[in-house]
Amino acid sequence: MSARTVVSGGLVVTAADETYADVLIENGRIVALADRDSGLAASWQADTVIDATGKYVLPGGVDAHTHMEMPFGGTTASDTFETGTRAAAWGGTTTIVDFAIQGVGHSLRAGLDAWHAKADGKCAIDYGFHMIVSDVDENSLKEMDVLVEEGVTSFKMFMAYPGVFYSDDGKILRAMQRAAGNGGLIMMHAENGIAIDVLVQQALAAGKTDPRFHGEVRHALLEAEATHRAIQLARVAGAPLYVVHVSAQQAVAELAAARDQGLPVFGETCPQYLFLSTDNLAEPDFEGAKYVCSTPLRPAEHQAALWQGLRTNDLQVVSTDHCPFCFTGQKDMGRGDFSKIPNGLPGVENRMDLLHQAVLDGHISRRRWIEIACATPARMFGLYPRKGTIAPGADADLVVYDPHAQQVLSAQTHHMNVDYSAYEGKRITGRVETVLSRGVPVIRDRSFVGRAGHGRYTPRGLTGYLD
Ligand code: URP
Ligand code: ZN
Ligand code: ZN
Ligand code: ZN
Repeated sequence: MSARTVVSGGLVVTAADETYADVLIENGRIVALADRDSGLAASWQADTVIDATGKYVLPGGVDAHTHMEMPFGGTTASDTFETGTRAAAWGGTTTIVDFAIQGVGHSLRAGLDAWHAKADGKCAIDYGFHMIVSDVDENSLKEMDVLVEEGVTSFKMFMAYPGVFYSDDGKILRAMQRAAGNGGLIMMHAENGIAIDVLVQQALAAGKTDPRFHGEVRHALLEAEATHRAIQLARVAGAPLYVVHVSAQQAVAELAAARDQGLPVFGETCPQYLFLSTDNLAEPDFEGAKYVCSTPLRPAEHQAALWQGLRTNDLQVVSTDHCPFCFTGQKDMGRGDFSKIPNGLPGVENRMDLLHQAVLDGHISRRRWIEIACATPARMFGLYPRKGTIAPGADADLVVYDPHAQQVLSAQTHHMNVDYSAYEGKRITGRVETVLSRGVPVIRDRSFVGRAGHGRYTPRGLTGYLD
């Protein structure tokens, strides 16, 4: 007989419901839920009982935007798949979707193989891949069809970073047309990189070299303009569009206007845009470099529009864009020239907690927390209902969450392989206590009991958000 686990006594929170229920797990899957008042659970035989009385029982978090070991700006993101997925588990995330990268002049397949080689056998939790398309030609367009069949069903393209990942509008249109035919989803980094590069050179020539100028040259209007252009290109191609790391209120307005016309346009934001601002970029002694990412942090007044977008469903997902670089030795590379600071922030461990704090602060409801952090990312990227919910048949990826525990976020106590926290000193009410991945404990009572290689590569279906 297979091992049976019961998670008992907790408040089960999904995007749809909140119920006091016991959860029965067998063979790594959820097989039944029993309402507290039904008495049904009394007849269940279990090998292991996890007492969740006074706690929440949540679906494991789905972080659809991470960059483990990503080579970028002459260095490599400091979390490996091993350290980064372990940290994710500590923070209640049980699935990541990371970005494999097509090198310019190379095939999509070569990029995907390289990312499998980095991740396979290393991950503590399940993982899938998106593909970054940086070189659109006949061959890579054909390869997109094959990748979709294999479970790599989403493709990131860049209107930013000329000379690195950048694609011009013609290449973007061709990839969108292909996605319209094969069911893939185009994910867009929407910033006008050509114009931004002019402003970068002008700023540096004027002696404006500090990190805060990174935020000034990456103008909010150039995010909004690119968002608008991406929407029109997708519309012409007849393809759905998912805009990543939205930070400007003007970009949210573009998404909202498109959605009000009924277009299949979706948006993601990240905790750094909800909780941090240009005030952080302006921290003295080069500390602002810790907060350099693209799209950049915005003045704090943009945050209200992002929260509103999350409430009105003009933004659907919160992912981390976890892309950590150490302050010493990596962010350092940009002293005297902000354009040489590697772009990216750590956060894979903090997302679920920060969003729980947002529930307590009144920005979103408890069910919306689970919707934007678990259910919708799973549905958007073809993982639902296996991931992102608590229901019979779903993988037993569960988090027992203590909503009353107090913690202070800090690099002293986090598990990400990076020498600073973007949220140093922030007080959070709520903390992950136990995490199961396919029924197997990864975190048990605040101890890591998982292992590298437990996490499985998870091929994905087509986006389920158009159904
Ligand atoms: O600054 C960022 N976001 N770094 C990661 C790469 C990207 O554009 O998502
Ligand atoms: Zn990006
Ligand atoms: Zn609307
Ligand atoms: Zn990213």
